[in-house]
Amino acid sequence: MILKDKVALVTGAAQGIGKAIALRLAQSGADVAIVDMNLEKAQETAAEAEKLGTRAIALKANVASLQEAEVMIDETAAKLGAIHILVNNAGITKDALMLRMKEEDWDAVIAVNLKGVFNCTKAAVRHMAKQRYGRIVNIASIVGEMGNAGQANYSASKAGVIALAKTVAREFASRNITCNAIAPGFIETAMTLALSEKVREELAKQIPIGRLGTPEDVAEGVLFLVSDAANYITGQVLNINGGMYM
Ligand SMILES: NC(=O)c1ccc[n+]([C@@H]2O[C@H](COP(=O)([O-])OP(=O)(O)OC[C@H]3O[C@@H](n4cnc5c(N)ncnc54)[C@H](O)[C@@H]3O)[C@@H](O)[C@H]2O)c1
Repeated sequence: MILKDKVALVTGAAQGIGKAIALRLAQSGADVAIVDMNLEKAQETAAEAEKLGTRAIALKANVASLQEAEVMIDETAAKLGAIHILVNNAGITKDALMLRMKEEDWDAVIAVNLKGVFNCTKAAVRHMAKQRYGRIVNIASIVGEMGNAGQANYSASKAGVIALAKTVAREFASRNITCNAIAPGFIETAMTLALSEKVREELAKQIPIGRLGTPEDVAEGVLFLVSDAANYITGQVLNINGGMYM
């Protein structure tokens, strides 16, 4: 139980990678706050987490709103007693080639994927700085490092959360708050199921390990970065991509 007495908040945890992260942290002893726009599914994840023997709450919030981020962070601290771990996982895609990308699709992706991370981090570090302990992980993406045709908004947002992690790492290291990013490759979730079977097969061929990743592959990396084993690691990017980008 390496996370006993810790409270973790995971955004976008109703399904996919966020859900796997929340359950892995719960399995390791943390109490968890499951935050998502989809409250019904968040409640289902919270019920699964409780079956692992920890406390779990589900909260509805849109991370793109600073006010909603502040409310859900304060509610977590009030209901679970503190907030030690923040995993900024909520993210969306609205893909199109540059020339066809609509201004509102650029704005929407930046608002959730980049400003959302700023909002939740800003709200959480107030609590973490006071208690002189915090572990923050931003879920970035391989395309934030490589770029990707059709994902100008998404890849820029993911490069942004890598830079944001490094800045938060520098600003808060003296308060015993670490902040790192994880850059997953292509992971089997609803987000990648939106791609055609053919595209996914082509992607797998570009991955040295020969398969797409699972949400659990990413969750293991998060568990490491928020555990005491990673106390001296901050401002780093952990690539979990089957060797697709080195
Ligand atoms: N699937 C992949 O291949 C892959 C690869 C690299 C990075 N990622 C990143 O991992 C994260 C999770 O991706 P996933 O594949 O599990 O996606 P997903 O679409 O399965 O789940 C995302 C969750 O975030 C929630 N969400 C969306 N907007 C929100 C908002 N404004 N406020 C609160 N919650 C919101 C959704 O309701 C959903 O439950 C994302 O940040 C994504 O960019 C995914």
